[in-house]
Amino acid sequence: MKVIVSKTYEEMCAKAARIIAAQLTLKPDSVLGLATGSTPVGIYKELIRKYEEGRLDFSEVTTVNLDEYVGLSGENDQSYRYFMNHNLFDHVNIPKEYTYVPSGVAEDPEDECENYDLLIQQLGGVDMQLLGIGGNGHIGFNEPADSFAEGTHLTDLTESTIQANSRFFEKDSDVPRRAITMGIGTIMQARKILLVANGESKAKAIYDTLYGPVTPQVPASILRFHPDVTVLVDEAAFKLVAEKE
Ligand code: PGA
Repeated sequence: MKVIVSKTYEEMCAKAARIIAAQLTLKPDSVLGLATGSTPVGIYKELIRKYEEGRLDFSEVTTVNLDEYVGLSGENDQSYRYFMNHNLFDHVNIPKEYTYVPSGVAEDPEDECENYDLLIQQLGGVDMQLLGIGGNGHIGFNEPADSFAEGTHLTDLTESTIQANSRFFEKDSDVPRRAITMGIGTIMQARKILLVANGESKAKAIYDTLYGPVTPQVPASILRFHPDVTVLVDEAAFKLVAEKE
């Protein structure tokens, strides 16, 4: 794993955006695996800026997102489809039909999961996957568990994730309890992975990912077995590692 430490969140985002831009320069028709959450927002802002300056072209890019809440349609402003449109797709020249997010309102969610993995296969796999990390070490919605889930699947969110998400919903009862997520197997098949984390609330997850045992209790720890992972962190998220070194 290559680890790049930045002083600030802004610097971390600028570096991540440069890596993604380099990927699109080398392969303009890349399949990008994308993530939601607060961490990637600054990266998407940088990508939009590069596009507006004429330095980045998304016309041949395809994207596949990691996950979506079950029960939320793309019109719901808390859905991940809405997030992606709002934070990236509406601002760059990517054809919307080349942007994929699992459907949270599919009639048969199990079928939706199976079809999502088939879709990724048909696209030729993910060239570069962007990942955030949960305070509990989750990636996508692969929460701490007794085993690593292989493919895209339905999952119950843990109480800590429900709590972390509740800030976005008016009532606790509105917070989704289930999600569709790419599995660990799906994520591990990406050719390159960029893991981004900022802030002290991620310091333990980053420490455990880099130095703890590889265990499904810290889902991101499996990334140590991937041949091409770049971890981008700010100093706060790197704090526990820096103290050890
Ligand atoms: P965050 O979420 O970027 O909002 O901290 C990351 C994640 O849970 O994967």
